[in-house]
Amino acid sequence: MVADFMDRARELLAGGVDDASLNAVGRLLAEVSREPGFIPQTETKSLHGSDTTSAVLQTDSDGLTLMLGKFSAKQETPVHNHNSWGVACVVQGKDRYRHWHHDDEGQLKVLYEKELGPGSFVTWLDPPHDIHSQQGIGGPALELVLFGKNTMTIPRKYYNLETGEVTTALP
Ligand SMILES: [Fe+2]
Repeated sequence: MVADFMDRARELLAGGVDDASLNAVGRLLAEVSREPGFIPQTETKSLHGSDTTSAVLQTDSDGLTLMLGKFSAKQETPVHNHNSWGVACVVQGKDRYRHWHHDDEGQLKVLYEKELGPGSFVTWLDPPHDIHSQQGIGGPALELVLFGKNTMTIPRKYYNLETGEVTTALP
């Protein structure tokens, strides 16, 4: 069923990756994620060096990659990018999603903040539009995230808000 979703997502994006096609993929992801058995029982591994964890469900040769992420309520993820567009849909729990951008002065600021529950999704475009942070609310948030690239194999940027330091590292 994951493989079927990947094929359908690829078709929706065939005409180009933009807000409209990413939203269509988000609606599809929200729909299929409700199907029993869509989310396999799977081992997740630690991400961002915290108790936020993730697992790759499928990654294809063109880069299209579906991941399952669990975002802890204990601590917000660092502000980070992915060097890829993405679609994130909550399947269980609640997530406080913050999307960041550099303002006209080059300062990293929150562009918007959203509370996402099951079936709610957000989308973002390729860099520089791919900076965010997340935190579960009242418990971990389980989420499906589709990327245009296998983001587990490419370095990402971590932004330290206090020092302004930017670190590049593999997840
Ligand atoms: Fe992320």
